[in-house]
Amino acid sequence: MKLEEKNLIVKRPYKEVYKCDDSIVKIFSETHPKSDIFNEALLTARIEETGLDIPKVKEVTQIDGKWAIVIEYKDGKTLEEMMQSDRKNMEKYMDDFVDLQLEIHSKTSPLLKGMKDKLSRQINSLKEVDATTRYELLTRLESMPKHNKVCHGDFNPSNVIVGKNGKMTVVDWAHATQGNASADAAMTYLLFALKDQDTADMYLNMFCKKSDTARQYVQQWLPIVAAAQLTKKNAMEKDFLMKWIDVFDYQ
Ligand SMILES: Nc1ncnc2c1ncn2[C@@H]1O[C@H](COP(=O)(O)OP(=O)(O)O)[C@@H](O)[C@H]1O
Ligand SMILES: [Mg+2]
Repeated sequence: MKLEEKNLIVKRPYKEVYKCDDSIVKIFSETHPKSDIFNEALLTARIEETGLDIPKVKEVTQIDGKWAIVIEYKDGKTLEEMMQSDRKNMEKYMDDFVDLQLEIHSKTSPLLKGMKDKLSRQINSLKEVDATTRYELLTRLESMPKHNKVCHGDFNPSNVIVGKNGKMTVVDWAHATQGNASADAAMTYLLFALKDQDTADMYLNMFCKKSDTARQYVQQWLPIVAAAQLTKKNAMEKDFLMKWIDVFDYQ
């Protein structure tokens, strides 16, 4: 497989994403754990098996000594690009975006990792907050109900591809778990809020309305998912996430 610079889509510190013929190739740095790469491929396969129509994983392979995942290429633009270039239709895009997330939440996949276990591991590993705050976060997490809905874990418009016919498909399943739809929505809200608070509010209103969920319930998850997000985010976003952890009065 020959990866060409002109076909580079995304470059991150530990990986690059290329288009190559009718595939997408996600190629990882040598230092990236091999298990993460196989895990992302496995997660994608599990999601395919739920019946969701997503780009299929084709292979895990090595290119120039680096591990890579090969996935079907879907022609189109990301919903992020569409939202940016066609702002007057923002509400319509948001409507479709929430419907798509609810379709994911309508699925189950019993072998996926549990969301509460994952969140609790992430919070326990957090160096940025003191033991008292970690304890409060874990206590809150424990008190939340346990659900088993398929959750994307990083559901944001850059992970939605809109085809020419308008059909949407969801990519990037590396963070998928089974758990609470409202926690998944809290994560999406934070991802929007990192960029623009108004869009984040539009999203949350629409999610709560369509799923008949109380805003306060999604908001209860915010400090928990902000803390979890802190385990993987760059320094620039740290202050923002710390604010969400501190917003709530843990009395
Ligand atoms: N199957 C696909 N078909 C078309 N484009 C894709 C596909 N998968 C990813 N992309 C594009 O590559 C970008 C990065 O891929 P993604 O899997 O989201 O990686 P990351 O973890 O870096 O966000 C996406 O935002 C999208 O633009
Ligand atoms: Mg992505």
